[in-house]
Amino acid sequence: MELEKGAYPKVLVRPVVVVTTISERGIANAAPFSLNSPMSFEPPLYGFSCNSEHDTWKNIQANGEFVVNVAGKELGALMHVLETDYPYEDNEIAHAGLTEEKAKAVKPPRIKEAIAWIECKLEKYVELDDHIWITGSVLAVGVKDEFWKEPGVMDVEKAKPLCHVAGEFFAVDMKEAKYKRA
Ligand SMILES: Cc1cc2nc3c(=O)[nH]c(=O)nc-3n(C[C@H](O)[C@H](O)[C@H](O)COP(=O)(O)O)c2cc1C
Repeated sequence: MELEKGAYPKVLVRPVVVVTTISERGIANAAPFSLNSPMSFEPPLYGFSCNSEHDTWKNIQANGEFVVNVAGKELGALMHVLETDYPYEDNEIAHAGLTEEKAKAVKPPRIKEAIAWIECKLEKYVELDDHIWITGSVLAVGVKDEFWKEPGVMDVEKAKPLCHVAGEFFAVDMKEAKYKRA
């Protein structure tokens, strides 16, 4: 079945992250994103696509820092709260009943309930019509201890990362598979 070309993200299942930022006055903001990707191991770069009207972009322009909180299955039910367009400086973390935790290398807070976090500072951005591709330089990264299977491997069956399929459809309960490599 062919789709119209603008629907192409729907054929790619994408990890859901909640990006936290702060305003100039230090008030936290959180929003879910699924148009996102690691960009390179070395240098450590991470990127995501953000509508230019979003408070997330406004805050990143103000102070150049953000935290990428990797969402697990239990955050799925809170997506409708986190994606609500509350007035500027109305904190979605509080609306969703989530917990702010101090980050290690940047001022915006982490979300305690996330399974992993990537702390970034703005490296570069590209304006793409009404979206901005935001590239962050990674300053600190971590996975909750209970979701660390062995050095360098996340326990996906325990962590249950949340993935976005389309609209209100998500993929959960991932199974691990190990295949031979060349
Ligand atoms: C699962 C999910 C994925 C989303 N992915 C994106 C995305 O990749 N880019 C984007 O601009 N908006 C995305 N959104 C919409 C924003 O999260 C939403 O518009 C939010 O209100 C923006 O918040 P802000 O103004 O506080 O930054 C997504 C929403 C959901 C629920």
